[in-house]
Amino acid sequence: MPLIFQGQAMTQQFDVIIIGAGAAGLMCAATAGYRGRSVLVIDNAKKAGRKILISGGGRCNFTNQSVSPDNFLCGNPHFVKSALARYPSSNFIELVERHGIEYHERDHGQLFCNDSAKDIVDMLLTECDWAGVTISLRSEIKYVKQLDEQQFEVHAGGQCYQANSLVIATGGLSMPKLGATPFGYKLAEQFGLKVLPTRAGLVPFTWHSDQKEHFEALSGIAVPSCITAANGKQFSEALLFTHRGLSGPAILQISNYWQPGEAVSINLLPKQDAASLIEQVLSQHPKQSLKNTLSQWLPKRLVEALFDENTLAKALNQLGHGERDSIAAKLNNWQITMNGTEGYRTAEVTLGGVDTNELSSKTMQANNVKGLYFIGEVMDVTGWLGGFNFQWAWASGVACGLDC
Ligand code: FDA
Repeated sequence: MPLIFQGQAMTQQFDVIIIGAGAAGLMCAATAGYRGRSVLVIDNAKKAGRKILISGGGRCNFTNQSVSPDNFLCGNPHFVKSALARYPSSNFIELVERHGIEYHERDHGQLFCNDSAKDIVDMLLTECDWAGVTISLRSEIKYVKQLDEQQFEVHAGGQCYQANSLVIATGGLSMPKLGATPFGYKLAEQFGLKVLPTRAGLVPFTWHSDQKEHFEALSGIAVPSCITAANGKQFSEALLFTHRGLSGPAILQISNYWQPGEAVSINLLPKQDAASLIEQVLSQHPKQSLKNTLSQWLPKRLVEALFDENTLAKALNQLGHGERDSIAAKLNNWQITMNGTEGYRTAEVTLGGVDTNELSSKTMQANNVKGLYFIGEVMDVTGWLGGFNFQWAWASGVACGLDC
């Protein structure tokens, strides 16, 4: 394990100070350490990599087999290309294999640990140890200042540190109970960098109060779906009804593309044309009730919540053309306007952040502040669900670690 520094108050000189011992910070630290740089990682938490530990339901979806710039949201869509190309997911997979960590692939190329997310944290800490990195936990930052063009000073945990390179890897705002803070954004502003507005991403939607009354009994029901945002972005994944609203991978994905007040379109029969299905049953079993018909394809409780009792009681041949069309439209294109999202409390990521136009896409260094770098989620780069956010943390961490 790397040395956990808890020495006496004095100015300590390092080549690189990294603030944030999360995914990006640890990856960057090991990379810089292997280059022979003396590296200090400072974190206010009592453990390194806390988000990694709880990620992927405790199994950490550490990357994805197939990563492309299209899997990321960023004000400058070209920004992610260089770092992702330089450190593709195959490099991280190779690292995981070298450490003997067993993993498996799930849908859409997502890779998870077989055993525990702790394996990934242990791997990163081992790499930091081998690279001679010093990690100081439970260290509250008092101030950060630039002494001159070549020197930053950080006062943390009662200690004073100086370094030529300062890397900000403090992540986003999601899950404040895990220690998320706006530190990185404030520091960016302190050095004159633009910070784009932030909002919760990969986050469940909440019901309006009248919707809640109507739909909360569906809590626990999961169905395949295809969801389309107002801007046309579409995801085919499971939809989950919860007490508070809608969740599941399809909703988390679409939440990244959703703006307050916008409706989303939910296709509850993503692989079928509902109108043709209904016509088919009508021709074969004209007296079958609508309820029995729809319950072949969807959970009965969901059918009962979507349509009124009188309509459901009708036989298919009692429904007019227009009625059948509007039923089919609701099944293939249920337009629903949600109240909002659960916010940072449960969000997996933060959209927005340090404007990538302020940074070099090759090194993550600020264009106008020599020696200052931003990596990982603190910047305006957000990945889809599926291991993409960690892949960005690894790739941006390495890009910076090779330069800082
Ligand atoms: P990260 O949040 O990892 O690290 C930031 C570090 O900075 C923390 O250690 C924090 O304590 C420290 N810090 C913050 N403020 C500080 C301050 N003021 N002073 C000192 N230190 C400070 N992604 C994915 O690809 N696959 C997955 O399976 C999941 N699963 C998942 C589940 C849940 C519940 C969440 C909340 C998130 C995920 N994610 C995910 C997203 C992923 O965890 C996230 O994108 C990365 O951890 C971002 O890495 P960073 O290093 O940028 O920040």
